[in-house]
Amino acid sequence: MKPIKVLSVFGTRPEAIKMAPLVLELGKRHEFESLVCVTAQHRQMLDGVLSCFDIKPDYDLDIMQSAQTLSDITSRVLNGLGEVLKSEKPDLVLVHGDTTTTFAGALAAFYERIPVGHVEAGLRTFDRYSPFPEEMNRCMVGRLAAYHFAPTAQNAANLRSERITDNIFITGNTVIDAMRCTIGDGSFKDETLKKLVFDKRRVITLTCHRRENYGEPMESIFRAVVRIASSFDNVDIVYPVHLSPYVRETARKYLSGKANIHLIEPLDAMEMHRLISKSFFVMTDSGGIQEEAPALGKPVLVLRRETERPEAVAAGTVALAGVDEENIFRLASELLTDSASYDKMARAVNPYGDGHACERTADAIAYGFGVRKTPPEDFHP
Ligand code: UD1
Ligand code: UDP
Repeated sequence: MKPIKVLSVFGTRPEAIKMAPLVLELGKRHEFESLVCVTAQHRQMLDGVLSCFDIKPDYDLDIMQSAQTLSDITSRVLNGLGEVLKSEKPDLVLVHGDTTTTFAGALAAFYERIPVGHVEAGLRTFDRYSPFPEEMNRCMVGRLAAYHFAPTAQNAANLRSERITDNIFITGNTVIDAMRCTIGDGSFKDETLKKLVFDKRRVITLTCHRRENYGEPMESIFRAVVRIASSFDNVDIVYPVHLSPYVRETARKYLSGKANIHLIEPLDAMEMHRLISKSFFVMTDSGGIQEEAPALGKPVLVLRRETERPEAVAAGTVALAGVDEENIFRLASELLTDSASYDKMARAVNPYGDGHACERTADAIAYGFGVRKTPPEDFHP
């Protein structure tokens, strides 16, 4: 029987980290012919992940421009991918999550009448401007897709509430599969991380990059960070700064020149996961890190007004700190001074996956294409 030709499309760092184990899984199985097209919406941050997982794309649209707009990304992906789809004619296009690559990739496939499989489907805040533009991207991909690989039961319920009912599979999140490859005992390559004394000082990992935080919210977050750093002298705050020019300029303006705030270059996934696992806690507006840190037993303060990942909030390891300077400072101070509060949050919980999401996703595709008789069993935490 002819293998099912699956084209995986991704372009940014988080998509790559979460699609990498699935690409590896599809590549292992005889029922699939697995191809990869990267848009390179991110260039350096994508290439780092590709080399971490040793993935060599079949197509590279190389679209990134400095300070690109959403329209730039959308139009460049649509044009570039359209050509690839016309020549390859895959049976299925896989996209991941909620970036502009995700939306434009799904739309390009739809224009060629090629079914779309949406990995990490069904996450919602139900606020169209937060996160922006991700919430609308994932809603639109939900409508475009033929197969929905929802990490959790809540994500599947969100889809059903939008009357999307067919071909929903609860798989767990592939990020937990990815962590099986990235977590190891190795030492750090980054010069700053090599010098940190994790057992004597309290290391806080910080990331902040979201578009809806540009402007006053990001400035308010950074003012809180400065207050934390100057109020607690046994603390080191490590911020691998995203390559976005806006983020870098704002971080430099507010956070540079402080002895215990370390602005470093983006880390590769292995080093990042190692940093989280050795940190006291994490402050972040990232999506993926809200899934990874709880799995590593690290409390997370989410630097956003809302989250599409309520499961770890319900489990008590993630707190929604928002973007208000006072509130962030209060919550961080509590974690640093109140060991009972800290211990309540520092528990390893894994509502997002069991490390077998890629197997379930591959099984679900095989089932959808009639190669397998039964659907995979749902993921239960
Ligand atoms: C994008 C996604 C966001 C995701 C984030 C992950 C959209 C609209 N946003 O946001 O959902 O959370 O990626 O990090 O899809 N840059 C480089 N090199 C890189 C990467 C970025 O120089 O390797 C710079 C470029 O100047 C680029 C800018 O960063 O123009 C912003 O990148 P872009 O992908 O547009 O937005 P992100 O904020 O990264
Ligand atoms: N990450 C990384 N290096 C860094 C910062 C983050 O490898 O310097 C990883 C992080 O562990 C997670 C992913 O990148 O797996 C999250 O990406 P990002 O925060 O850029 O995007 P989001 O998840 O918010 O879409």
